[in-house]
Amino acid sequence: MKLKIAILAFTLALFTNAQENSIDFLPSEGEIIINKHIYGHFAEHLGRCIYDGFYVGENNTSIPNTNGVRNDIIDALKKLDIPNLRWPGGCFADTYHWKDGIGPKDQRPSMVNTWWGGITEDNSFGTHDFLNLCEVLETEPYISGNVGSGTVQELADWVQYVNFEGDSPMSNLRKQNGREKPWKVKFWGVGNEAWGCGGNMRPEYYVDIYRKYATFMSGAGIEGGLDKIASGASDADYNWTEVLMRDIPHNLLQGVALHHYSVIDWGNKGSSTDYNEDQYFMTLQRSWNMEELIQKHTAIMDKYDPEKKVDMIVDEWGGWYDVMPDTNPGFLYQQNTMRDAMIAGMNLNIFNNHADRVKMANLAQTVNVLQAVVLTEGNKMILTPTYHVMEMFKVHQDAVLIPLALKTDDYEHNGQRLPAISVSASKSKEGLVHISLVNIDLKEPKTITITMDENHTLVSGRILKSSAIQDHNSFENPEKIKPVPFSDITIKKDIGVITIPAFSVVVLELK
Ligand code: AHR
Repeated sequence: MKLKIAILAFTLALFTNAQENSIDFLPSEGEIIINKHIYGHFAEHLGRCIYDGFYVGENNTSIPNTNGVRNDIIDALKKLDIPNLRWPGGCFADTYHWKDGIGPKDQRPSMVNTWWGGITEDNSFGTHDFLNLCEVLETEPYISGNVGSGTVQELADWVQYVNFEGDSPMSNLRKQNGREKPWKVKFWGVGNEAWGCGGNMRPEYYVDIYRKYATFMSGAGIEGGLDKIASGASDADYNWTEVLMRDIPHNLLQGVALHHYSVIDWGNKGSSTDYNEDQYFMTLQRSWNMEELIQKHTAIMDKYDPEKKVDMIVDEWGGWYDVMPDTNPGFLYQQNTMRDAMIAGMNLNIFNNHADRVKMANLAQTVNVLQAVVLTEGNKMILTPTYHVMEMFKVHQDAVLIPLALKTDDYEHNGQRLPAISVSASKSKEGLVHISLVNIDLKEPKTITITMDENHTLVSGRILKSSAIQDHNSFENPEKIKPVPFSDITIKKDIGVITIPAFSVVVLELK
């Protein structure tokens, strides 16, 4: 009889590709802090992200705003506790001359946004507008400097303009423009995608350029100096990271960036809403690739920096699809479905689990561009499934990462496999344990046994799910997808058993 049961169980396991899903985790053993900056955002002068997104103008009487920035967006981002905001690009950054964006707005010269749609901008959103917005949001600014088409002097002047307290040509100009106290910006990108839109440089050439620019960017008045971040590799360009880590003196280098988008095929990206399981699987495959990229770039960084003093900064990540029909192809406006919730949850779990090296990440992009958290149309604003994942996961910000071991089923499609479950866990300063779980399997719910090294009880749980993977929020139905309470878990002392539905995200709070 026992043999028959064993054979039946074995056959069932083969048939369903099921194994016992389990998480063994040790809340008392964590040491590494999940840097809150992993939950960072990115706002480029691109399409309707800044103009007709964040910024609707001081004279706009139909959309409530603070100094021209929409109040509904400010409120939404404050609820995310966004820790930093990267600006002004992206590719745009290496075309941006900051002095065109200061002083009286009616006297600012216009410019052509050559990367994104070829439209003319009037420079009405500039340095003061961005840094004042960061103050309102209580978030740290991360400025990308122009290396591609700027000069060393121009970038050195920008640093002095925003950071210098005393008497100097640039701080005096700032004061003349109405801002007495410096903003004290710590995070500075030294160019963007120097291998591509930032100048099509070879890594050896960029290294020399970086060394020169970084030398003249003064950290005066900033506690611990500036965090200078080198333009990093695209995807698996490991040679780029190798050359930067080897040839830039580490006293000039606080961070090395990495960009990786979840895109099926640059020539055929597919629709953001109308996709089949093949396309879903491929997108998630690209997304899961982040794990390998971080491991391999980390291995190179470890070789030159075993003490992990130089941070990995994933300052562009997210899903990238075809633009929505009838929108400007240069504006990168796409919808955001449950597939994007899967991408967000999976990537945030990956970043958390690599918190010893990954110290900052920036989702591309905040408003109306790529995997946005907020979409706007006229005076309406909606929150996307990605927004809700960022909100559910914010409990991990600055918490202690809990080491864990995961055994997971595969999500199998057409003979290809991906791990179905991703997870990370942390302990807050108040002693609360948070576990974030994502099940990317389109069909199968997953039952998971969680074994802990101490007794815990459930405080609360929330889930983000929907009936179809293509579901999304729209201006007609803005709350179709939002987190709801979740209680499909039993906990007895140090063992929990949870069933997580297909394509859903769950965050649990235990004490
Ligand atoms: O986020 C959109 C673009 O993607 C950025 O401008 C660029 O850095 C990247 O190629």
